[in-house]
This record gives sequence, structure tokens and C-alpha cells, in this order.
Amino acid sequence: MDLQLCYTVSEDTFPLPQHFRARYGPFGFPALADARRPYISSNFVMGLDGRASFRELEDRADGNIVSRSREDRWLMDFLRAHHDAQLIGASTLREELNPEGKGWDYGINDEELRIYRQDTLGLGRQKVLVLSGSGNIDLTLRIFSSPRVEAWIITAREGEKNLLSQIERLGREETTKILSVGEGTRVDLVTATQLLRQEHGIRTLLCEGGPNLYGEFLKNQLIDEDFRTMSLQVLGQSTKPEIERPTAYGFVSYTPGTAPWFRLISLHYALPYHAFFRLRYEGPRTF
Ligand SMILES: NC(=O)c1ccc[n+]([C@@H]2O[C@H](COP(=O)([O-])OP(=O)(O)OC[C@H]3O[C@@H](n4cnc5c(N)ncnc54)[C@H](OP(=O)(O)O)[C@@H]3O)[C@@H](O)[C@H]2O)c1
Repeated sequence: MDLQLCYTVSEDTFPLPQHFRARYGPFGFPALADARRPYISSNFVMGLDGRASFRELEDRADGNIVSRSREDRWLMDFLRAHHDAQLIGASTLREELNPEGKGWDYGINDEELRIYRQDTLGLGRQKVLVLSGSGNIDLTLRIFSSPRVEAWIITAREGEKNLLSQIERLGREETTKILSVGEGTRVDLVTATQLLRQEHGIRTLLCEGGPNLYGEFLKNQLIDEDFRTMSLQVLGQSTKPEIERPTAYGFVSYTPGTAPWFRLISLHYALPYHAFFRLRYEGPRTF
């Protein structure tokens, strides 16, 4: 493992075992600025041109194809270990089908980090929340039966109806928790995050994308921090013009006066191809 620390002003609140601390440096979150919702971080890997997926290519989907870094994989586990819950958008789940077609469970692979999460931090089994307005989610995917994670679906009334009829069709006892927030097929993200904090005790939430979901969080000023892996390659445009390769930032659009800025909290690198930024949201700046 060749992770190098270049700079950090991180809080130091987690009881990292010495060998994790030697590898990463100190790690902590600031006190919650808004106690009504969780502290929300995001984690993405992107190329030099900001793009986050070779999405239209058939073998694209495991995320590692942009990353190709074992340090990035370890850092992903490190972040998963420290957050109460993770969140992904339904399209990521629908698209990221591994070769067997059953998808990933988004679990922690590093056994030491998994035990640290459970025993030292006392955070229990990972909670992986999937956001879907449509409810168009295949409940036979691996994530819904993996012993490593507890999967929840956050949806609205229409999506819940679709999911319940799928459960009936499958004729099985469904253990996936479904949280229905609002009418129709859109979830109000401010309400949903407040519900997670106030009714389900989730104090830290890790948004793992995709870009669409992240963009909505950013628009709603629900992002506190970004972890960004820069994979030093250029993805370029899609090979199929009808399928766009997204940047990590979805469809947000700003002007110089409204563009949100982020402050550098830490910088790691792994020679020769990867840099790892930790950034804290500050919002628009005046000059
Ligand atoms: N590089 C990376 O680190 C990284 C990380 C994650 C994903 N990716 C890639 O990104 C691509 C997928 O990203 P994406 O941006 O297209 O999709 P996405 O953000 O994963 O999912 C979008 C979906 O989330 C649901 N959603 C989002 N906001 C909602 C709201 N307010 N209310 C209700 N539902 C909401 C909707 O689901 P319904 O359609 O079910 O209503 C929407 O279609 C894939 O290629 C994936 O591999 C890359």
C-alpha cells in the first residue's frame, strides 16, 4: 500500500489503530453544523476531465475501471467504515451489474476495517440506502440478500407501490426496509435526510453517487464534504452519442457568482497515477 500523506488539517476524533493512523494520518469530522440532518460526505473517482464513468461500455460498471487503484479501494472502505450509512442512486445500482449480473453489495472488503467499524466504532453492520423515485429496482440483486450489509430503499408513494407489488410477485418475506417520503415519484431530499437523522439516528451519511444524485444534494446544499479520487487519465466523450459520460457533478449549473467553493482539508497521493482530495464545502465566495 503506497498511500502518501501530503497535507492535512483534519479533525482528529476517531480512535484509529496506529497502523491506520500511520497510513492515513488523523481523521475526524467537525461538530454537526445542522443538527436536524446527518453530516453528509460524498466519495467519487473521476478522470482528469471530471468524468466519472465509461458508462456506455459493457465492461464499464465496477467503478474500478475508472479508479484502477488499490489505494482508492482501501480509502473507499475507510470511508464506509466511518459513516453510519451509505447512499447510492438507483441508476448506479441498475447499471453496476458485475459479470454475474447481480451487482455489488457495496460492502467493506478490508477485513480489518470491517472489524474496526463494528468493534471499535460500534457502528454495526453497514447500512446501504438506495434512492429511487420510480421503485424500479430489482430486489433479487445481491445487495438485498448480502449478509454484509443492511439495504434500505428510500422512495415516494408511487415507488413504494411498485416495490410492494414486486415483493408480492416474488412471493417472499421481504426484509428490505422501505422508507416512503412524499407523494408521486420524487423524494424531497431535505425532508428525507432529516428523517434519517431524527427517526433513524443516522448522524453521518456517505453519498457514493452517481452524479445525478450528488448534483441534487449539492443543489439542495446538503453536501458538507467531498472525497475525490483523481485518476490521472482522460475518459473523453462517449463512444455512443446518445449516452453521455457524466462528470461527477451531474447537471448542476452555476455562474461565477453562485459557484460553490470547497476548501482543501487533506491531500494524499499514490504514485504515479492517483491523487486523493478531501474537500469541505464553503459555498459561493465574494472577491
Ligand atoms: N466514478 C464514481 O465514483 C461513480 C460513483 C457512482 C456511480 N458512478 C456511475 O454513474 C452512473 C450512474 O449515475 P447517474 O447520475 O446516472 O444516476 P444515479 O445518481 O446513480 O441515480 C439516479 C437515480 O436516483 C434516483 N433519484 C435521484 N434523485 C432523486 C430524488 N430527488 N427523488 C427520487 N429519486 C431520485 C432516481 O431513481 P429512479 O430512476 O429509480 O426514480 C434517479 O433516476 C453509472 O455509470 C455509475 O457507474 C460512478
